[in-house]
Amino acid sequence: MLLVTGATGNIGRPLLQELHASNAGPLRALTRDAARTTFPGGVEAASADLADSTSLRRALDGVRSMLLVSGLGPDADIIDTARRAGVEHVVLVSSITVQTHPHLLPAAEKSTVEMELKASGMDWTILRPTQFASNTLLWAEAIREHRPVRVPYADTGLPTIHPADIAAVARVTLTEPGHRGRTYALTGPERITPRQQAAAIATALHRNIEFAEISPEAARADMLPFFGPASVDAVLDVTGGDLNDELLQVRDTVPHLTGTPARPFHLWAQENAPAFR
Ligand SMILES: NC(=O)c1ccc[n+]([C@@H]2O[C@H](COP(=O)([O-])OP(=O)(O)OC[C@H]3O[C@@H](n4cnc5c(N)ncnc54)[C@H](OP(=O)(O)O)[C@@H]3O)[C@@H](O)[C@H]2O)c1
Repeated sequence: MLLVTGATGNIGRPLLQELHASNAGPLRALTRDAARTTFPGGVEAASADLADSTSLRRALDGVRSMLLVSGLGPDADIIDTARRAGVEHVVLVSSITVQTHPHLLPAAEKSTVEMELKASGMDWTILRPTQFASNTLLWAEAIREHRPVRVPYADTGLPTIHPADIAAVARVTLTEPGHRGRTYALTGPERITPRQQAAAIATALHRNIEFAEISPEAARADMLPFFGPASVDAVLDVTGGDLNDELLQVRDTVPHLTGTPARPFHLWAQENAPAFR
């Protein structure tokens, strides 16, 4: 049995579709409310909260491999519960900031989870994706309401990744040999700036989007309610305030591991246009 946590999320949904399409064997999808959602036929839905070890233990019954999306619950406890349940291999979604910005608190937290998994005795594979294309959903309300998209660092290009590419790598590493004990930094195929992302969404919507570059200070005030004081400065640093070559680098890990070119941002924008209408 293979368990996917974060099953209704940006990575979990396409991963379950990929696993199902490739006949990867018995699949279980972990969500806090299985009644609220549907998964591909044959996928077993398990209602569990990652913060509740009793429900998690039930969801882990018979599981041999799992995708663990970090940061959704108490990761150290989740890893311990998985080990006790007999899980053999965990593919962990971490973050590229572990290697690009190790001094930032959110990156240090990911680094700690990576170390806890490595020390667990279970086999492990670590995925370190860069900024997700789906982060632009933060703009969806403004775009739907024909208000300007307010963005700092408008002309800073980052190698944003399509979450389906993280899912594609997760499927390969969960189901094919040779990936245990490996850490993969994952990026998209090219650097793209927020201004270019807004233009790609406008093209997908067949209309103009008003775009306003704002100062980092104004962005901090906008973002504080969403990210909270512990993370807002880190988010600003990794989106333009404190860049380094490691963060800017376009990597070939996705095509190398999946055999398919990494998906460009404009494809994500076309697929997700309804969210902006
Ligand atoms: N966004 C980025 O730019 C970026 C960059 C690098 C790394 N990352 C990492 O990528 C991961 C996020 O992946 P994602 O975008 O696929 O996740 P996501 O879409 O934000 O969320 C995944 C799902 O987690 C479930 N969930 C939330 N709390 C839960 C709980 N207590 N118990 C069980 N399930 C819970 C929710 O599903 P239900 O409501 O159905 O329970 C949610 O749909 C994080 O580890 C993040 O640090 C993100």
